[in-house]
Amino acid sequence: MPWPVYYIPGNHDNPAAMQKMQLLPEDWRQAACRRIEFPEAVIILLDSVRRGQSRGGVSDETLELLKSALSEDDGRPTFLFMHHVPFRTGYTAMDEPFEQVEKLMKLLSGRQNLYMCCGHIHAPIVTKMQQISVNTCPPICMAMEFDLTPQGGDMFYTSEPQFMLHVVEGAQVITHFATVPTGEIRKGPYTFSI
Ligand SMILES: [Fe+2]
Repeated sequence: MPWPVYYIPGNHDNPAAMQKMQLLPEDWRQAACRRIEFPEAVIILLDSVRRGQSRGGVSDETLELLKSALSEDDGRPTFLFMHHVPFRTGYTAMDEPFEQVEKLMKLLSGRQNLYMCCGHIHAPIVTKMQQISVNTCPPICMAMEFDLTPQGGDMFYTSEPQFMLHVVEGAQVITHFATVPTGEIRKGPYTFSI
């Protein structure tokens, strides 16, 4: 691709294998949290994976690293990317507690122009936590069936890949949700459980 590509692990990934493949930095601190500077914006990549678990969270060590990564706030849009979602989405089967969410939000409180960008849910969702914009990205595969009942969050369908694009114009961020027009016909629903 004609632009840099950065990776963060999800709960199905093996971070050690990703390090071997040079998809993550070798240094554990850099792999847990790193800050990437652009003239228009700042990107922070955070590892929210709790080893051997599907739920996410942040350790005290990761929070310390995040504190350092956040240290400069010059008003530029800051995107904090992590796999897991720190709020209850309503997709019941997918909703699990995020470890140390209170500490995370305390650290982020008061930050200007911060966008928390998550994955995991395989559906596009937007909300706010303490005035911070938080979103989940639609998926490139296995899209979540929309179902906010107590039985929801366990079915997916296949369709055209979806993605999210953040356009930075000065201090403003314009977020687009789009699909890749592959022509793939929607199939499903299927269950995640098998
Ligand atoms: Fe996930």
